[in-house]
This record gives sequence, C-alpha cells and structure tokens, in this order.
Amino acid sequence: MNVLMRRAAAVCAVTLAVSAAPAQSPGDGAVGPRLPAELRALLIEEMRAVLDASGNILDALVRGQDERVAESAQAIHDSFIMARQMTEADREALHAAVPHEFIERDEAFHELSLSLAEAARAGDRPRQRELFADMLEACVDCHTAHATDRFPELAEEAQAGRAAPAE
Ligand code: HEC
Repeated sequence: MNVLMRRAAAVCAVTLAVSAAPAQSPGDGAVGPRLPAELRALLIEEMRAVLDASGNILDALVRGQDERVAESAQAIHDSFIMARQMTEADREALHAAVPHEFIERDEAFHELSLSLAEAARAGDRPRQRELFADMLEACVDCHTAHATDRFPELAEEAQAGRAAPAE
C-alpha cells in the first residue's frame, strides 16, 4: 500500500478538500465506509495479512529467529495485497476517499516495518523489540483515528484513558 500512498501524496490537496468536512465525533475519520466496496474488501484482506504477519513476527521474536522476523516485516512493508491488486482507477478512488492523515499513518507504518526488517537482518534484537512495539502503537493509533466504526471499544478506551488521570 505504501507505493500507492506515496503517489497519493501528490493529490493531497484534492484529498484534503474532499475530506475537510467537520470531523469531531469518533468515527468521522473512519476510512472503511468511505471506500468503494471492492477497495474496502482489499483493505480488509490486507489487514488480515498484516495481523497474520504480526503474529509470525511475535512468534519469531520470542524464539530469536531473526530471519523469520525479517521475512514477515518485509512482507508487511511490501504490502502484498493492495499494491499488487489495485488498478489505476482503484488508486484514484482511494485517493479521493481517504483523509490525508490516513495516508501519513500508513506511510509511517510501512516505514516502521522496513526498519524492523533491517534490524532483523542486522541481528539487533533489542531494536527489533522496540520497533515491533512501535508497530503495535501504530496499529492502535490508526484504528483509533480511522476505524472506530469498526472497533468502537478503542474510542471508549481512549476516552477512559483521558479521564483516568483526573481521578
Ligand atoms: C494506516 C491505518 C492502519 C494501520 C497502520 C493498521 N490498520 Fe488495521 N485497519 C485499518 C482500518 C481503516 C480498518 C477497518 C477497515 C474496514 O472496516 O473497512 C482496519 C481493520 C483491521 C482488522 C480487521 C480486519 C477484518 O477482519 O475485518 C484487523 C485484524 C487489523 N486492522 C489489524 C491490524 C494490525 C495487526 C495492524 C498493525 C500491525 C494494523 N491493523 C495497522 C487501518 C489500519
């Protein structure tokens, strides 16, 4: 997905204009409902692959299997599903439908996965654990901003978290 996201940077102004509608309540940044059905299906397919790859990474991390970490992290970076299966028309539809922050979060996420692959190839295990933790943060951060329609508990938790220190 990062390849298409890079291309999307060129049309950010257009995207921003499209998505500049009032965005206050949780779920307003939700990306899924804005996508044409076939694109949403591709995103969901990619997310399942990302979850699968993340499970492999965790398993490999706790076993010290650097090569497997590198493989799965690289697979996330290369974004097998969306980048491979999207047509030019799909790309345009995606660019027009999603908020700019989603594109930025996606790029940052893919950069993290590349850094993780590199740390794994270098055999740097403390760095691998640090980057994997950062990736988990990136999953939750993006879901909280762009998938609270799908994961409503994340919005509740964010609110509870903010309220907690006041008590
Ligand atoms: C750049 C934003 C972004 C990042 C980063 C991201 N996701 Fe998602 N994810 C989404 C969105 C948006 C949806 C909801 C899609 C929908 O409902 O149409 C989603 C949905 C999912 C789903 C539900 C898929 C299903 O079965 O329907 C899973 C599982 C998931 N993500 C896992 C992950 C994991 C694991 C990570 C991190 C390793 C991650 N995601 C990182 C945006 C992101």
